[in-house]
Amino acid sequence: MKINLYNDSRDICHVTVIGELESFSEENTFLESIEAVKSKTLHITFLDANILGNRTVECLYQLQKNYTLRLFVLKAYLFSYLYSLGIYSNFVASKSLMENQTEKSCNAEPEEVKLFLQDIKERYGYDYTLYQIESITRRIQACMLKENVRGFKQFRQAILQNEQLFEQLFLYFSVNTTEFFRNPEVFNEIKNKIVPYLSTYPNIKIWCAGCSTGEEPYSLAILLNEMGLLKKTQIYATDINPYVIEEAKNGLYSLKNLEKNIENYRSSGVKGSFMDNFTVKGDYIEINEELKEKILFFQHSLDGNGILNEFHLIMCRNVLIYFTPLLQRKALENFANSLERNGFLVLGKSEGILHNNGYDFFCDFNKAYKLYKKIEE
Ligand SMILES: C[S@@+](CC[C@H](N)C(=O)[O-])C[C@H]1O[C@@H](n2cnc3c(N)ncnc32)[C@H](O)[C@@H]1O
Repeated sequence: MKINLYNDSRDICHVTVIGELESFSEENTFLESIEAVKSKTLHITFLDANILGNRTVECLYQLQKNYTLRLFVLKAYLFSYLYSLGIYSNFVASKSLMENQTEKSCNAEPEEVKLFLQDIKERYGYDYTLYQIESITRRIQACMLKENVRGFKQFRQAILQNEQLFEQLFLYFSVNTTEFFRNPEVFNEIKNKIVPYLSTYPNIKIWCAGCSTGEEPYSLAILLNEMGLLKKTQIYATDINPYVIEEAKNGLYSLKNLEKNIENYRSSGVKGSFMDNFTVKGDYIEINEELKEKILFFQHSLDGNGILNEFHLIMCRNVLIYFTPLLQRKALENFANSLERNGFLVLGKSEGILHNNGYDFFCDFNKAYKLYKKIEE
C-alpha cells in the first residue's frame, strides 16, 4: 500500500491510496496521514481498495460530516459498501477492461462454459466447476454485458490473462444477499429445539458456512447471548468471498434496514431489544465488541475437502442452492465429518437433503424448518 499526497494551486489536498489497506499498521499510516492534513479541503481517491476497515470508515464518515471531503473510488464494491453506510463517494468507472473486440457472438455453450470454469480453477484456484451451470452462465453474461463484451472466446481469454477482470467476474459469481434473523421462524425453532441440547455441553462450537457479510453469525451470537450461553460459545464463520469476510469483521451495518431487522428479531422470539446489541455511529450501526469477539471470520471454500471439525451445530443456508447435487453431496459429507455425534445441521428454506443423497449422513430433525441431525455411525 502506498499513499501519495500533494496540494494543488487551490490548496486542495489530494490523497491517493494505491493498493489495499490490508493491515492494522497500514490503516494507521492512512489515518495518521489524514490527521496531518484534515483541516484542508480533501480529495481522497482509493484506487484499488475493495473494502476498508471500520476505523477508516469512521474517519471518512467524520470527515464528510465535519470537513470538506470529496471521495473517489474505482471499485464498484467499495462504492456500494460506503453508500450503504451513508458515506457518499464518486465512482470512477474504469473503461471496459476489454479492448479490440472482433467477435460478434454473445452466447456461450454449456460445454464452453465448463471448460472456462476448469481454466479459472487452474489459473486462480477458485472452483466453480460444480456450480449450477445455468446460474453461472447468467452471471458470466451479466459481467460480459457490464464490460460491454460480446464475444465469449475473447472474454474467456481476457479473464484468464487479466486478474482485475477476473475480480469483477468473481463478484458476479457471488450472491451475498442476507439479513439479520433471516427466516425468523427458523431462529425461533433453533432457540426452542436445538439450544436446549447445546446448553448441556461445557463449550459450544458452531460453524456458519457461507456467512456473507456476517448478519447470520451475529444473529446466532445475539440469540445465544440473550439465552446466557454466549460466554461458552465459539462461532466460526466462513465464506468463499474475502470481501464479505472483511465487511463481516467490521460489523458495520446500514440503518436503512433497521425496521426489517427489528421485525425479524421480534418474530424470532428472542427477548430483549435488537438495538442493545449495537452502537449507533451516524447513518450506520456497529455490532458490540462482546459479540464480535465470539466469532472467528475467515475465508474458506466449501468446494474443497478440508473439514473443520467437532461442531455441535452447522448452519449453511442459501449456499447449496448454487451447487450441483454432486457438490451438495460433497459439502454435506464434509458437514457430517465436521460434526460431533448428535450434531445439528440447518439448511436454507429452498434446500434439502433428498436429491443429493444427504440421507446417507443426516436424518430429519424438523423437516419443515430444514433442521437435520447427524446419523449415528
Ligand atoms: C446468498 S448468501 C447466504 C448468506 C447467509 N447464509 C444467509 O442465508 O443469509 C450465499 C453466500 O455463500 C457464499 N458461497 C458461495 N459459494 C461458496 C463456497 N463454495 N464456499 C463458501 N461460501 C460460498 C457466497 O459468497 C455468499 O456470501
